[in-house]
Amino acid sequence: MTLHKIVYLLLCICIYYTNASPPIEQVMDKLIKIISEEQVLKPAEYKFPQWEKKLGLYRSEVRLNFFGEPVQAELRKNKYINVFDNNMFATGWIASVLLETNMYGRAPKTIDNEHLSLAVDAIETFHDHNQNESSVPLMTFWSQTYNQTTNAWESTPDNLRDLIADLDDNLERLEDILKVLGIKNIAQLIDRIRSTSEGLKNAFEIPPDFDDTYLNIGLGVQLKLLQDKYPSLYFRWLQTNSNMKKIIDLTLRYSYRPSSPYLDQNTIDPRTYFWMRDFIRDNPQAIIVTTWAQNITEVRTAAQKCIRMPFNLNNVDVTVGANVVYGITSAIMYDLLDFKDYFNQDMQTLYLSTASLIAWSIKNSMKNRPDLAQVYYPSHYNFLWYGSRTLFILELARHQQKVVPDVFNRVYSLLSDTYRSDVVKFFQDNVRSDKSSYDDFLGVNDTNIFGKSEPTGEDRIFSTAQTVNILIASFTYLDGNTGKLKWITDGPQIDTIKIMVNNSISWLLDNIFKYQPFNCFFSGSVKGFNQLPFWYPANFYQYLNGTTLDPDHFDTKTQSLVDSIVGVSGYIDETSYERMISEKHFNISTPTTFNGYNSPGAEFPFWSSQPYTHSVTLLALAQYNNLDK
Ligand SMILES: *[C@@H]1O[C@H](CO)[C@@H](O)[C@H](O)[C@H]1NC(C)=O
Ligand SMILES: *[C@@H]1O[C@H](CO)[C@@H](O)[C@H](O)[C@H]1NC(C)=O
Ligand SMILES: *[C@@H]1O[C@H](CO)[C@@H](O)[C@H](O)[C@H]1NC(C)=O
Ligand SMILES: *[C@@H]1O[C@H](CO)[C@@H](O)[C@H](O)[C@H]1NC(C)=O
Ligand SMILES: *[C@@H]1O[C@H](CO)[C@@H](O)[C@H](O)[C@H]1NC(C)=O
Ligand SMILES: *[C@@H]1O[C@H](CO)[C@@H](O)[C@H](O)[C@H]1NC(C)=O
Ligand SMILES: *[C@@H]1O[C@H](CO)[C@@H](O)[C@H](O)[C@H]1NC(C)=O
Repeated sequence: MTLHKIVYLLLCICIYYTNASPPIEQVMDKLIKIISEEQVLKPAEYKFPQWEKKLGLYRSEVRLNFFGEPVQAELRKNKYINVFDNNMFATGWIASVLLETNMYGRAPKTIDNEHLSLAVDAIETFHDHNQNESSVPLMTFWSQTYNQTTNAWESTPDNLRDLIADLDDNLERLEDILKVLGIKNIAQLIDRIRSTSEGLKNAFEIPPDFDDTYLNIGLGVQLKLLQDKYPSLYFRWLQTNSNMKKIIDLTLRYSYRPSSPYLDQNTIDPRTYFWMRDFIRDNPQAIIVTTWAQNITEVRTAAQKCIRMPFNLNNVDVTVGANVVYGITSAIMYDLLDFKDYFNQDMQTLYLSTASLIAWSIKNSMKNRPDLAQVYYPSHYNFLWYGSRTLFILELARHQQKVVPDVFNRVYSLLSDTYRSDVVKFFQDNVRSDKSSYDDFLGVNDTNIFGKSEPTGEDRIFSTAQTVNILIASFTYLDGNTGKLKWITDGPQIDTIKIMVNNSISWLLDNIFKYQPFNCFFSGSVKGFNQLPFWYPANFYQYLNGTTLDPDHFDTKTQSLVDSIVGVSGYIDETSYERMISEKHFNISTPTTFNGYNSPGAEFPFWSSQPYTHSVTLLALAQYNNLDK
């Protein structure tokens, strides 16, 4: 090799390692590869420490949100301290994001027919089997197994159930692993894992939910639009999902209607009521989508069959709402079967009320109670992205001059105003000092061995990628002629947005493999003592069997609340409510403030999926790569 070649080579290496980011194409190729490696292609059965893994699903895992000193942080992020979870939510999103990467972005093909087919087949196993009609697209977070004793299908998070069934034995084995790793204070840590894990038990018996249900609707629409690229998958999907009438009936049946005369409809989790009550005061006729496909009448008997809402009562989660609004918008815009024939007056009200609630909650910073507003889905960046997806397709409809129901225009006004002002301001207020990246909360409160703050940024990749996706969804549309993403207007605000997007993309290209690709896409509703529903004001106290209970004469040490229904029925005027806040409930003061998801003594289990983080990062890069700059 001649001298000048060597010098040239060294120069290249130096440039590569000093300032140049790897080319975007190279990063996208690598992401596509590592995402594909996280799909289960060989199913496995549970035999601790080997987890059950279902064919076609992508990896997602349950972790514990410990934080603080290095030992505690280790419990959160350790390679061995997590449980593989077979849920449809992560896989549904990963599949959707991979498809959108090729629909809206410029990237190599993200997934072939064979692998997408495995994912779609896996998702098909998450249907609710307790439906009497066929092809009802009502979905469950965990798949169900048949129980001969009860003659009903119940949800089963297989790995968690097996792990907890044999918790002591398994913790002993974990202890051995921790010893090998040289971790200190093991006994104390194991105790904390034990108590946190036991809290999970009552989360298992869940009914179907509207979040997974409308995620599946959105996926169906994508398969319809991509029939030429993935032949036969849409027809596969239709075989088990064609009953649109029923899904709309169910959406309405379980919706929250504060002014309804029926207990089944006007009663809601006291935590929901706490943060949402001003919205209800101002919108008494609202119809708002709930999380669970179950009502009080049903839970009274279904609970014995191991199918029950947590705390036997429904709630509202803005993240669920965002996904339902998107599912409805896309099903109508892209004419999914006969969905739009059932978009009746009540359904339109549900659509408008739920979208209004989303806008209101963002404008009011979740009333400082994100723990209650996003009760199952803590990641704020993820919630904002779900909401922005509706704005993106509504903007597209305007450019395509599609005829849409009038209520779509009202929702467009609400979302465009919120996302183009309040959400941008949120990013500006929360961007890290590098002006490029964003943190949610995983690892934010860690300290080093000297007790000095040392955030690890475990959800930084995820939050930063989602910020890019939100900005692109809020300020661009897909131009049908060129296939490029075009900025909606010119002007000073768009210039600001372009710089924000550029900064975050540069940061992602430089850092994509330098941080843990964790996220907190799901959690139980209880993060600590303060999120138990019983301590919040309520006006309905009963057991499942209809007997009333008296919170003022109740001994929580000897009596159980497992079969209780504690809720708010109808509207409580604010003066009375304020008085109720100042009173104790079950002898506990109302928890009126929230101090963040990293709160001492309030560690909680959360769901994270690395391939989900990698997918949304891929989407951000591909969309950026397709911008009409
Ligand atoms: C289905 O039908 C059976 C028998 O008619 C009934 O007991 C059950 O409640 C029905 N389930 C649903 C979800 O309608
Ligand atoms: C609650 O569910 C039961 C059983 O499915 C149903 O008969 C009842 O109408 C529902 N309540 C309301 C108010 O829709
Ligand atoms: C079936 O249901 C019964 C009654 O609720 C319950 O005791 C039993 O544990 C369930 N069986 C399985 C395998 O979950
Ligand atoms: C965690 O860090 C955030 C951001 O620095 C801070 O606002 C919060 O008070 C910290 N929480 C705890 C429990 O230290
Ligand atoms: C953003 O980056 C692109 C590509 O590097 C560049 O062409 C464009 O000028 C940048 N825009 C701004 C506002 O910095
Ligand atoms: C109703 O259920 C509660 C709690 O399980 C129980 O204490 C009470 O005795 C039951 N009442 C009747 C009438 O069965
Ligand atoms: C209520 O809580 C206080 C402590 O906050 C305790 O002293 C008291 O005994 C409790 N009362 C009952 C009836 O449990």
